[in-house]
Amino acid sequence: AETLRVALAGLGTVGGGVVRLLDANRDLITRRAGRPIEIVAISARDRAKDRGVDLSRFAWVDDTSTLATRDDADVVVELIGGSDGPALTLARNTLAAGKGFVTANKAMLAHHGLELAQAAEAARVPLKFEAAVAGGIPVIKGLREGAAANEIARVYGILNGTCNFILSKMEAEGRDFAEVLAEAQALGYAEADPSFDIDGVDAAHKLSILASIAFGTQPAFEAVAADGIRRVIAADIAEAAALGYRVRLVGVAEAGANGLFQRVHPHLVPLDHPLASVTGSLNAVVAEGNFVGRLLFQGRGAGDGPTASAVVADLIDIARGEYGPPYAMPAASLVAMAAADPGER
Ligand code: HSE
Repeated sequence: AETLRVALAGLGTVGGGVVRLLDANRDLITRRAGRPIEIVAISARDRAKDRGVDLSRFAWVDDTSTLATRDDADVVVELIGGSDGPALTLARNTLAAGKGFVTANKAMLAHHGLELAQAAEAARVPLKFEAAVAGGIPVIKGLREGAAANEIARVYGILNGTCNFILSKMEAEGRDFAEVLAEAQALGYAEADPSFDIDGVDAAHKLSILASIAFGTQPAFEAVAADGIRRVIAADIAEAAALGYRVRLVGVAEAGANGLFQRVHPHLVPLDHPLASVTGSLNAVVAEGNFVGRLLFQGRGAGDGPTASAVVADLIDIARGEYGPPYAMPAASLVAMAAADPGER
């Protein structure tokens, strides 16, 4: 069968993982996809950097924006990041050119998800972003499936691996915030701008995407109130532990009388709650539906392997022609929402 030809933008932690995964699992991917999936062209900032993979077999493209209109590519995978700038230009141009688009870019989706979904639907091409939320956990597909027939009361979870790693280490080893942050950065978990992690912005990006899938609302980053873990000190964690709690950065989207309440902030989680045992860079998402009950998704939320796994899973869906509207229901039927006043909850 015809090969699905991929143009890859960005070769950081996740991009390198995608190249390695497509190589390592080539045969089983071809069988499951029903046809081969091949990278044909790559664009990244630094060609010379050693990524431990052979890039000589791919066309190297200096101007990333040209990936959108290459005749030899069917799909663009965007792993550049950033809510605007080159990533957004590439997304718009790729969809306008009638090609599929796969991205791990939660910031871009939180700010421009509706526009991009409309463009994808108008062009009848896939827009897929499993890797954008909770890395390797298939939470977009899982939540879409779990929510499909349900009214969802609440979706919440641990959505930032860097913060969870920091909080876990602070608790287990009584270590200093800055020292542990440096370790998370070295492991490839942290955002290019680590304030996005520790100030709750990254978790808020992801929450706005989950809320859209769960509640059928237009993704709207402005509607999320975000607070991070900058002010959490070792003594807070020790005191919480003495009272039977763990400190976790939790994002919550909850249907209330006055709309949808979306917030990210440090929570005291009772030790017997499933979120309390989510440690290190793991993420977890809980959804509560009126017929399905409580769903729990857990796994690795950051890093090259898990995130690349989600990117390639999206490519397999595209290769098989299995995809629906990006946000589980047509963009035109997503409901606009304003930020709910927490006091009105
Ligand atoms: N910086 C993110 C995190 C990476 O720490 O969870 C995955 O989105």
